[in-house]
Amino acid sequence: MVLLPQTDQLRALHTVVRDRNASPREFTFYSRRIIRLLLETGMDLLPFEEREVTTPVGQTYRGLGFARNLCGVSVVRAGEAMEGELRDMVPGIGIGKILIQRDKQTKLPDVLFQSLPVDIADGQVLLLEPMLATGGSTLAAVEVLGKAGVTEENIVLVNFLASPQGLERLGREAPGLRIVTSAVEEGLNEQAFMVPGIGDFGDRFFGTT
Ligand code: PRP
Ligand code: MG
Repeated sequence: MVLLPQTDQLRALHTVVRDRNASPREFTFYSRRIIRLLLETGMDLLPFEEREVTTPVGQTYRGLGFARNLCGVSVVRAGEAMEGELRDMVPGIGIGKILIQRDKQTKLPDVLFQSLPVDIADGQVLLLEPMLATGGSTLAAVEVLGKAGVTEENIVLVNFLASPQGLERLGREAPGLRIVTSAVEEGLNEQAFMVPGIGDFGDRFFGTT
């Protein structure tokens, strides 16, 4: 698990988005700034290949090229909040979708729809899921990816907020998965919402509260 450095700037960004009085505009704008940091850090965990280029002064620069066959997979709906930044960073990137809804009573995830890039089995996947509460939704997404031939080692979970319970469960049930997050919470309340938390990320990002 990689936790973003808890700098004063990051804490200031979190303070804006965790405020229940944040306007929809503030929430979307500042959460996007955190999402950008998460995606940049997630990309650092991907494999790179040796690549040489000739510089304008005719010299060879021995560098690295981005891994081929990288895609994003968002857990709809909240995960869709991360798609825009990923598209800004990687032009033309393929983005699969898995629609998972957590039952309001049982808190168990239901997989309702999936659409994944056809060549996903050979690729690297940035799994976009901002909320890790019980971990049920993320594990359901990892299972869908597994059935499509993606091994845990080729998945980087890009996550905004994580509960200790969710992290522990992923460590047990998906030990090969790598996780980037911007905050680890104190725990879960009786509705299985994270505390101190941020509320319903999807509702706040998409203005459906
Ligand atoms: C919320 C959140 C996560 C999930 C986290 O989704 O967006 O996907 O719950 O909880 P878990 O770790 O306990 O599974 P929800 O089903 O409420 O829908 P949304 O993404 O459409 O807001
Ligand atoms: Mg969700």
